[in-house]
Amino acid sequence: MTRILRTIAEVRAWRKTLRPEQTLGFVPTMGALHQGHMSLMQIARQKADIVIASIFVNPLQFGPNEDLSKYPRPIEKDIALLGEARVDALFLPPVAELYPEGASSVVLEEAVSTHLCGASRPGHFRGVTTVVLKLFNIVAPDFAVFGQKDAQQCLVIERMVRDLDVPVEIIRGPIVREADGLALSSRNVYLAPEDRAAAPAIFASLNAAKAAWAAGERNGARLAEIGRARLAQEGRITPQYWEVRDRTSLKPIETVGPEGALFAVAAHLGTTRLIDNLEVSG
Ligand code: PAJ
Repeated sequence: MTRILRTIAEVRAWRKTLRPEQTLGFVPTMGALHQGHMSLMQIARQKADIVIASIFVNPLQFGPNEDLSKYPRPIEKDIALLGEARVDALFLPPVAELYPEGASSVVLEEAVSTHLCGASRPGHFRGVTTVVLKLFNIVAPDFAVFGQKDAQQCLVIERMVRDLDVPVEIIRGPIVREADGLALSSRNVYLAPEDRAAAPAIFASLNAAKAAWAAGERNGARLAEIGRARLAQEGRITPQYWEVRDRTSLKPIETVGPEGALFAVAAHLGTTRLIDNLEVSG
């Protein structure tokens, strides 16, 4: 049974019951859990003595025209999945617990977060860094697990932890995909059947560029063109960005060197925005 904790005081009291030698792993989420989330729970379960997850649909990271109010919230199902995965505790705070009236402090990362999704979703990463640092301060885990699905989020959090001396180790879990290549996402449930059928073209576009890279193409602009051209074969998809970027700074790359590159894509299918990425190196 997963212990459900709803207040900061409850989490801190629970934390105090752990023995000093017990390691604590943490998996923050917004719920609507799928096998991508559960793979992160498994990584935490394997590495830590005690595992805590959080479910909090963080209003601060949603833009005014985004899907905050309709974000899926199947909480009973989520709690059952956490129990099956032997997650010891769940932090499930109401919004007012994390953002009391008059809260006026935020955390800003000002370099990595400006690129890619930061450009199209102003304020998004400010919401992510603020809530993640708050959660780290409340939970005080030894390590936290994040998915490579959100590669930029990983980089922004790694940078924040480094810059602000946060004593939490960040671990990345690989992207979990459907059999046809579509990266699992809580937002996939929004897709109309025709859009769901078209969605694997996103991963196919990443693989087309990877194949060109494997065949020797090292020009960043040409690799991006190959990815964009593959995506354009699927008329239902409206690309937002398809970029070849440095794997740490997220700055554009002219020529891909031995340190490799991150291929990153964001696209709309109907009103649903999907992201995916792939790293190459060597
Ligand atoms: P959410 O979108 O619920 O994702 C929670 C974690 O699951 C993130 O680290 C994300 O990268 C990971 N994840 C999602 N889909 C995945 C997949 N297909 N394979 C592997 N991992 C996957 O990301 C957030 O919530 C929020 O921004 C949060 C960090 C909780 C802050 O509010």
